[in-house]
Amino acid sequence: MDEKLEQVKQTLAKYGQEQLLDEYNRLTDENQKHDFLDSILTIDFNQVKTLYEKSKEKPNFADSKIEPIEYVDKSKLTKEEYDELNKIGTEQIKKGKLAVVTMAGGQGTRLGHTGPKGTFDLGLDTHKSIFEILTDVLIKAKQDFDVEIPWYIMTSEENNKQTVDFFENHNYFGYPKKNVTFFKQGKLPMISTDGKVLIDENHKIKQAADGHGGIFNSMLKEGIVYDMKARGIEWVFIGGVDNVLVKPVDPILVGLSVKKNVLAAGKSLVKANPHEKVGVFCKRNGRPSVIEYSEITPEMAEETDENGELKYGESHILCNLFNIKAVEKVSQKALPYHIAFKKAKYIDKDGNVVKPETPNAYKFEAFLFDAFESLDNLAILRVKREEEFAPVKNAEGVDSPETARKLYLDFHSKK
Ligand code: UTP
Repeated sequence: MDEKLEQVKQTLAKYGQEQLLDEYNRLTDENQKHDFLDSILTIDFNQVKTLYEKSKEKPNFADSKIEPIEYVDKSKLTKEEYDELNKIGTEQIKKGKLAVVTMAGGQGTRLGHTGPKGTFDLGLDTHKSIFEILTDVLIKAKQDFDVEIPWYIMTSEENNKQTVDFFENHNYFGYPKKNVTFFKQGKLPMISTDGKVLIDENHKIKQAADGHGGIFNSMLKEGIVYDMKARGIEWVFIGGVDNVLVKPVDPILVGLSVKKNVLAAGKSLVKANPHEKVGVFCKRNGRPSVIEYSEITPEMAEETDENGELKYGESHILCNLFNIKAVEKVSQKALPYHIAFKKAKYIDKDGNVVKPETPNAYKFEAFLFDAFESLDNLAILRVKREEEFAPVKNAEGVDSPETARKLYLDFHSKK
């Protein structure tokens, strides 16, 4: 123990994080002390230092050359085009080449539901949770394509147990358990505005999920890439947990990717208005990318093409398809971290639990769409909002359970 304590002291001194020793000195239980030292030793303080230094830099977009990207409008395909893509995609799906990954590691702070977002009751007469609604889609796909699609669910350290228990307690909503695999995403320490690593109310280092872009690395580390390859998977649909109209088993999206000979594809929606606060697909220095609303100039946002359509009007909705080769390639790279300023409960230097009313800490997140820049090309399929997008983000107002429920009911009543 003394040796370990010495090692920890040296590391903390090197990186100016000695405040963590205050907590160690306050702990009275020997096991807790031990665990605390162990948790300190798992932290890459050099990475923390670099991330903190980055938090002070202003982003510089000036050297990026941004151009519009080509897309295909699903609703404007001719019958021949549609049938051809449908045939190609259906063949792949029926051969068992498609897997679905649901990213459910987020904190869902805006919704404010206690528990993983997927366990949220959407308020239908059936009281289905979001997870049950997603399972329905895979059960339907099993009937349509006569294949059981392997389903991978990414959780985080915070919500893994609750998520797995929820599926167990509901008997996987009738989906074969052998085809549902959970894996955890990575985490990173949260730091104060002066770069100090925080301690959480459980007397551990305060850590948070490393963003949806952490998925690729986690898929590699957790053996998911290996598992997919062993099952002969070629295409991986990756989507968020919170879109109750998600269409993950879409032969047109798969067919388009095969036809265009690309390693990834994304679904887009037409922006509701030029200044809607969404990221849009584009090309950045000749490569596929997403330009965030904070980056785009008002002039660019309003630019139209010869058909009067917005040049940067294809919003990214976190519904993407990756070839397994692309997943492997990206999983070996480090995606950049973006900084979010969040409210984070912590233990202060006097040992008191502080529950801040305003943001107080930096959280570091990788974004899935940063993976696009590693690829030469991306096929984009424009889909209809009322058919494929009903997000549950906020407790009230836009993108809330109320709006998602209405979209869900309208869509299902038309079928
Ligand atoms: P959001 O960006 O909407 O974040 O995630 P969130 O955590 O769900 O909600 P807020 O911002 O705290 O209110 C979009 C999708 O990415 C997943 C989420 O679960 C959601 O499906 N996600 C996000 C992860 O899986 N891990 C993360 O670290 C972040």
